[in-house]
Amino acid sequence: MADAVEFHDRLLSLGLARVSEAAALASAKLIGRGDEKAADQAAVNAMRDQLNLLDIAGVVVIGEGERDEAPMLFIGEEVGTGKGPAVDIALDPLEGTTLTAKDMPNALTVIAMAPRGTMLHAPDVYMEKLAIGPGFKTGTVTMTMTPSERVSALAAAKGCSTEDITVCVLDRPRHEELIAEIRSTGAAIRLITDGDVAGVMHCAEPDQTGIDMYMGSGGAPEGVLAAAALKCMGGQFFGKLIFRNDDERARAKKAGIVNFDRVYTRDDLVRGDVIFAATGVTSGSLLEGIRREPGWVTMETILMRSKTGSVRRIQYRTPIK
Ligand code: FBP
Repeated sequence: MADAVEFHDRLLSLGLARVSEAAALASAKLIGRGDEKAADQAAVNAMRDQLNLLDIAGVVVIGEGERDEAPMLFIGEEVGTGKGPAVDIALDPLEGTTLTAKDMPNALTVIAMAPRGTMLHAPDVYMEKLAIGPGFKTGTVTMTMTPSERVSALAAAKGCSTEDITVCVLDRPRHEELIAEIRSTGAAIRLITDGDVAGVMHCAEPDQTGIDMYMGSGGAPEGVLAAAALKCMGGQFFGKLIFRNDDERARAKKAGIVNFDRVYTRDDLVRGDVIFAATGVTSGSLLEGIRREPGWVTMETILMRSKTGSVRRIQYRTPIK
């Protein structure tokens, strides 16, 4: 039946929010307990159980790792009841395991769903990332510009001074030069210790988050998730895979990558319609974190569809069992 295989993103989106909520709920007890592995495992188990209740013929394209490294939600794992549309699933059951273990801001559970064959199977290597929010012409900032040229170009497009621009960057020794160059323009930098999916998403709501641009390298799988989020929220994203050795090149080949120098745009990474859900685990400028009160747990989820550009924020309260 043709109808049974269509990607009914409207109907599937609430199911996706439930999957995201379940992962967050499972990790709630582990916030601030110093155990990254336990927090991640709890989120993985819950996300997988909930995902398998959905009427989809899903395949994990961005997951917990290769089959031999990750027993659950590995790349290529089939998920769902198998009865619905054929879809790609990109997920990170706990984006910011360290943030969760240390009870620091912006830990999220993240999941995106799109028709089969439309999301890049990104290998587990680093990706150079650049993102800005909606409302700018294509080419306002590019990967070929230097970091300071990007700051100047964005300031010119916004009609403000470079000093009014804030760039989000992961706090890593590898970013020392990048940070120094951005600072030389007078721009401010919001340094984050982890969680670049949230870092990129912040660019889509600069008035709320105070962040105009994202720059620097982080995980390539997180790059695809960030592109999915910006495809729904609006904004530009560019990513280029970084290979440090032959093993990483082999991983890329296995994932079907042929051009190792390609700069991917947001729509190269996510080629069709996509639905995206993320639930706040710890509070940040994007989402409230999980709140535990006697007898209750409350959490906030952002649920978005690229087809319509709709962004819902759902508050979910459930009794503690
Ligand atoms: P985890 O949640 O898997 O720990 O990832 C957190 C993260 O900060 C990502 O958001 C980011 O893409 C990546 O790690 C950066 O990697 P590295 O810590 O090696 O710089």
